[in-house]
Amino acid sequence: MQNNLVHLGDCLEVLDHIEDASIDLIYLDPPFFTQKIQRLSDRSGSYSFSFGDIWSGKEEYASYMFDRIVKLKKKLKPTGSIFFHCDKSASHLVRLMLDYVFGESCFRSEIIWFFRRWSNSKNGLLPSHQNIFWYSAGENYKFNKIFGDYSSSTNVDQLMQRRVRDERGKAVYDRDEEGAVISNGAKQGVPLSDVWEIPYLNPKAKERTGYPTQKPVLLLERIIEICTSKGDVVLDPFCGSGTTLVAAKLLGRAYIGIDQSEDAIALTKKRLDSPVKTESRLLEAGRNSYEKHDQYAATILKGLDYIPVQRNKGIDGVLKATSDGLPVFVRVQRANETVIDAVAAIRRAAKNKGGCKLIVACTHPDIFFKQRFVDGVALLPTLGEAVNSLLAEQTEDWGTAK
Ligand SMILES: C[S@@+](CC[C@H](N)C(=O)[O-])C[C@H]1O[C@@H](n2cnc3c(N)ncnc32)[C@H](O)[C@@H]1O
Repeated sequence: MQNNLVHLGDCLEVLDHIEDASIDLIYLDPPFFTQKIQRLSDRSGSYSFSFGDIWSGKEEYASYMFDRIVKLKKKLKPTGSIFFHCDKSASHLVRLMLDYVFGESCFRSEIIWFFRRWSNSKNGLLPSHQNIFWYSAGENYKFNKIFGDYSSSTNVDQLMQRRVRDERGKAVYDRDEEGAVISNGAKQGVPLSDVWEIPYLNPKAKERTGYPTQKPVLLLERIIEICTSKGDVVLDPFCGSGTTLVAAKLLGRAYIGIDQSEDAIALTKKRLDSPVKTESRLLEAGRNSYEKHDQYAATILKGLDYIPVQRNKGIDGVLKATSDGLPVFVRVQRANETVIDAVAAIRRAAKNKGGCKLIVACTHPDIFFKQRFVDGVALLPTLGEAVNSLLAEQTEDWGTAK
């Protein structure tokens, strides 16, 4: 079968047309046994994509998956690998099947794909990860070591110095004859771990197609980079909107995609014509960059019981307490803003958020500064202003300490 093509049909049948031992990497993200029809709409909201994930029981699902895993194994080169994406619905079944078909000694890793979510959990913990099982076809598998950054708490300068064990078995710096510490050579970073934090596609992400359960290109790029080289062949037998193939194309790998849905195949072809990847600002700048993002607002709001709101131009935080059952958003007046500017900014940001209450924390005076409310927005005085009012009040409730 030719590379760089996508095929419509049940992968069990289409796989018969693929040469045995010809594939370097298989990634599959099949239905997860969610017992639901997975449905989502495209960007315009006018067209809805769906695929079924309803089974008579675990036996039916397991037998369906087993037949396909057995056939997929035959397609792998001896140096190849398979990555099976699933979640808690059937990860226990999938792991057993993969152990059985590939052998426990070919189990390489269980990757935990971790992403943050903000939805409400029902009666338990909020699911925030999915599982990706990596098995190799044999012992002599292709593996490219990838390094990540050290965490901010790592004392990197200490890692630069070679250590040895002393007579008591304690790790100490290795020193040359003159007593100088010996360098450890350049450090490439920490080897990639099996827990990956990659953001889920947000509704405005450029690469989002509206296909249900679409995975981020970034996730697939990482998998492809681990165990293939340029020109290698990547197969996705449940390709959906074609994310794996887009990532393969962007990385100069050959690809084969299969899906039984006509919509999926059409969408995949369209994406492959002009592959797009959404850069994650969070990953590029690092998670801490958001925390540092607005130190000014954080300083002013210190002591307030609130949750910082990141990536919002008009709102800095939301109070943990509500008012009249409504959320309360807060904005800190910036140095270059008048009170009216700040009021306008928070009102704009709160538009379409449903009912809410708004507060501007004023940081410098202007003509509106002494008002309690402007355009329905409460103005919070600075500490300095609050002290001035207290002094002006001359209340008897304020005792005199001796
Ligand atoms: C979870 S989605 C894949 C999503 C994909 N990873 C993406 O990023 O868009 C699963 C896909 O498997 C397809 N599918 C289900 N059974 C299939 C089968 N027997 N052969 C081929 N495709 C199948 C569905 O149509 C659906 O598109």
